[in-house]
Amino acid sequence: MRIIQVSDASAGAQRAFEIYEAALAQGIKVMGLATGATPIALYDRFVASALDFSNITAVNLDEYLGLTSQDPQSYHYFMQQHLFNHKPFKQTFIPDGASSDGQQAARAYDKILSQNPIDIQLLGLGRNGHIGFNEPGTPFDTTTHLVNLTPSTIAANARFFDEPAAVPTQAISMGIASVMSAKKILLMAFGEEKATAVAATVNGPVTTDVPASVLQTHPDVTIIIDDAAASKL
Ligand code: GLP
Repeated sequence: MRIIQVSDASAGAQRAFEIYEAALAQGIKVMGLATGATPIALYDRFVASALDFSNITAVNLDEYLGLTSQDPQSYHYFMQQHLFNHKPFKQTFIPDGASSDGQQAARAYDKILSQNPIDIQLLGLGRNGHIGFNEPGTPFDTTTHLVNLTPSTIAANARFFDEPAAVPTQAISMGIASVMSAKKILLMAFGEEKATAVAATVNGPVTTDVPASVLQTHPDVTIIIDDAAASKL
């Protein structure tokens, strides 16, 4: 794992931006993208830049089940707002959270992933070490699957919703095997509340209790963290 430690999230976004600039110059074709607060500053930089994504296919990690793409809380909506409305991509894919059959939507997404092998996968980090919506205990060999979110993840996501009861309890997520199939992985984590998960990811045993710890076994992982997130290393 290559660790890049920066002073704050803004400096981290800048470093990530430079990695994408180089990757695009090298001709990558498929970018695995993420949602959450962490990548917003990176997407802002993409939008403000002259980078051209019109030959790039984007595949997103996950989506809540039970929200339509027009729902402002959906990850579809998030991606439109922060990136896709501003920068044309060749194609964009996100799991279908409006499907009445989450299992079927997961299988359909696996087919899309098999046709679009990921060159560089962007990841945030859950406070419990989850990546995408792969919660602790998820086997490392999972592909896209239907997830029952843990109480801690539901609580962490509640900040984006008007009322706690509106927070979805299920999601469709790329699995750990899907993430690990990416040629390169870039994980970003900022702030004190990520410090425990960062330490377990980097220095802890490789265990399904900390899904991100599997990244220790991938040949090309870069982790960008700020001083606060690095404070327990
Ligand atoms: C959610 C998303 C993850 C994201 C995590 C951290 O659970 N499914 O992909 O990495 O939250 O979010 P944030 O970046 O807002 O801390």
